[in-house]
Amino acid sequence: MNRELRKVVIAGNWKMNKNRAEAKELVNAMKDKVANAKCDVVVCVPFTDLETVLSAAQGSNIKVGAQNCHFEKSGAFTGEISADMLTEMGVEYVVIGHSERRQYFGETDETVNKRVLAALAAGLKVILCVGEMLADRENGITAELVALQTKIALRGVTAEQLKNVIIAYEPVWAIGTGKTATAQQANEVNALIRATVAQLYCQDCADALTIQYGGSMNAKNAAELLAQPDVDGGLIGGASLKADDFAVIVDAASK
Ligand code: PGA
Repeated sequence: MNRELRKVVIAGNWKMNKNRAEAKELVNAMKDKVANAKCDVVVCVPFTDLETVLSAAQGSNIKVGAQNCHFEKSGAFTGEISADMLTEMGVEYVVIGHSERRQYFGETDETVNKRVLAALAAGLKVILCVGEMLADRENGITAELVALQTKIALRGVTAEQLKNVIIAYEPVWAIGTGKTATAQQANEVNALIRATVAQLYCQDCADALTIQYGGSMNAKNAAELLAQPDVDGGLIGGASLKADDFAVIVDAASK
């Protein structure tokens, strides 16, 4: 991480875990442990937990995010939630384009782009996920693929709006598998994303962009990953469901 140039952000992605009672308990357990963080701390929780977590996190340094939002403002989109519905609740962040959405829910680079634009227009901060599948890495197309995902997702995003974007590099083969990218692999792809953004916008814009790593980041490996110059934080799945583990990662990012 390079604190002089950009913000370090540790975000938990709870995925489809925790009912309201459990969510409240987890946030309450986290509050004191992360109170002295020298990085931004975010928890991205299921829609049904948002209200509970917003209220439990009040007065703390924990910020709250959702895990998706739709690109239309309202209408006949059964099962979807709009960006405005989130901001109206006080939600600050939203994860867009997570690989699980791309894999299981038909999310494409185009719909990711539409959701990014809608979320930014509504005033949300976006955690945009990109990353290659194992076969892509084995075929040697990681760089092209991640650059392409980044370019399409950011189409139409202004340099001003880019200030509200965080990119999370999440190699799909590392998510929930216990197989972490090496610190060098993570740094390499993060640097490549930064170079892509520099090309699309400007070098200063790219230097100011927070680029996280995600994929089996945990209490044990966080320090090494975060020591890399282009790894500006983490998007944490499994390890964000345990207050102690999450706090260790936040501490590592605060060094
Ligand atoms: P993981 O998930 O930390 O459980 O691998 C990361 C993510 O999917 O954001």
